[in-house]
Amino acid sequence: MENVGAIVTGSSRGIGEATAVRLAQDGFLVTVNYSSDEERAQETKRTIEDHGGTAIVVQADVTEPDDVNELVEKTAQEFGDIGVLVNNAGFSKHATLDELSHAEWQKVLDVNLTGSFNCAKAVAPKMKDLGWGRIVNISSLRAMTGSDHGSHYASSKAGVLGLTKSLALELAPEVTVNAISPGYTRTPMTSDALEEKEEQIAAKIPLARVAESPEIAGVISFLVSHDGSYVTGETINANGGIYMK
Ligand SMILES: NC(=O)c1ccc[n+]([C@@H]2O[C@H](COP(=O)([O-])OP(=O)(O)OC[C@H]3O[C@@H](n4cnc5c(N)ncnc54)[C@H](OP(=O)(O)O)[C@@H]3O)[C@@H](O)[C@H]2O)c1
Repeated sequence: MENVGAIVTGSSRGIGEATAVRLAQDGFLVTVNYSSDEERAQETKRTIEDHGGTAIVVQADVTEPDDVNELVEKTAQEFGDIGVLVNNAGFSKHATLDELSHAEWQKVLDVNLTGSFNCAKAVAPKMKDLGWGRIVNISSLRAMTGSDHGSHYASSKAGVLGLTKSLALELAPEVTVNAISPGYTRTPMTSDALEEKEEQIAAKIPLARVAESPEIAGVISFLVSHDGSYVTGETINANGGIYMK
């Protein structure tokens, strides 16, 4: 279904930006969301419009239910129906158990897991009204492997997989809910790590390179397309085959 609203959380840069641009090319009317970086969010909008697509920009912190309700209402006012939600907004800061404060643990859980719940809860009634919907949650390789410097991040992303399966059951048959677990992807989130050790990282990956954001956006595009219509409750691992090595 095209020409309906698609909300991509955290689309001011990285995977979210590439996804917003791709979904607009696919014919969706895109809400570009950010929490603090308005300038980059406006750049995403301009890129979409330069390619002939339609977009609005809405500031909302996904951890705040009132912000999220406004995000959904503004999208509905502008575009009418909302058919797609991509829960992409994410946050991480490396810390071992010793270093991790309760506040830092909570913040990562709030953005990555509770933020996805907040957005799904706000948008689901609109999708039910439309009789069609697609929710894609962005998990991570770390949900499966764990992390020796990010128990908060890995736990939040494993939680996203439980949320995905639960909502897939609850929201069927009108709405499909799936997850993507990207591996290493070139974005501002990973720029420091890649600057320091991209070669070592690539050596661990059968495809011998990290992903570019549009490659993750392409998988999301499939899940929200007609071709993805019989897939729900699934996790697609887009990681260059890193498990096999
Ligand atoms: N890059 C990778 O290798 C990789 C691998 C696996 C999974 N992932 C996941 O993929 C997603 C995108 O990652 P990325 O690498 O593209 O990250 P990124 O470059 O750091 O971008 C994160 C985006 O999330 C937004 N954001 C952060 N907190 C928010 C909040 N509270 N409310 C609304 N928006 C918020 C940011 O906007 P503002 O700056 O305006 O807040 C930004 O647009 C994340 O969920 C991440 O965990 C990434």
